[in-house]
Amino acid sequence: MGKRFPGNPKSSKALCETQGLSKFPMWYTGGVIRSKKRMAITKEAFIAELNHDLAYEFGAAVQYVQHAATVTGAEYDAISKELIIHSNEEMMHAVSLSNMICDLGGVPGVDVEERQTSSISKEMLEQDLAGEELAISRYKERIAQAEALGEYGVRRLLEDILMMEEEHRRDLANTLGK
Ligand SMILES: [Fe+2]
Ligand SMILES: [Fe+2]
Repeated sequence: MGKRFPGNPKSSKALCETQGLSKFPMWYTGGVIRSKKRMAITKEAFIAELNHDLAYEFGAAVQYVQHAATVTGAEYDAISKELIIHSNEEMMHAVSLSNMICDLGGVPGVDVEERQTSSISKEMLEQDLAGEELAISRYKERIAQAEALGEYGVRRLLEDILMMEEEHRRDLANTLGK
């Protein structure tokens, strides 16, 4: 963990200047400052990222429902039932994220991220696995940002979601023999 910024700068620009960065570097985007040592973010940008996570959760729930119904082959019988459980859990994540966003003073969105489909069962599970890997990396980033903002309750809730995404990844990886 890098050294903490003094005080509580109101803007990301102020944070850049605190770091001695008079111009925005290439890795500065949308209020998020990325560095290997620490990650700082404005509350507004954090809420926007949570809303994007929410859209991914809605997308994942829809994708799992479709995949559970269409996956075929005896070797996928068990995972088919598991996909329905995943779908319900993604909706629980959406509820949790919506409450977090409200508690932080934002408004939860209703957007649904792009869904992936295929006529090949194995490909569907590969798509689901890729979705879980993306979710895991997004939530790890979000947990670091919650920590930087001092939002420890939100961090805890995000950690609970992350643990479940890791379980989903395990289910899919095991089925795919990875
Ligand atoms: Fe999820
Ligand atoms: Fe998941």
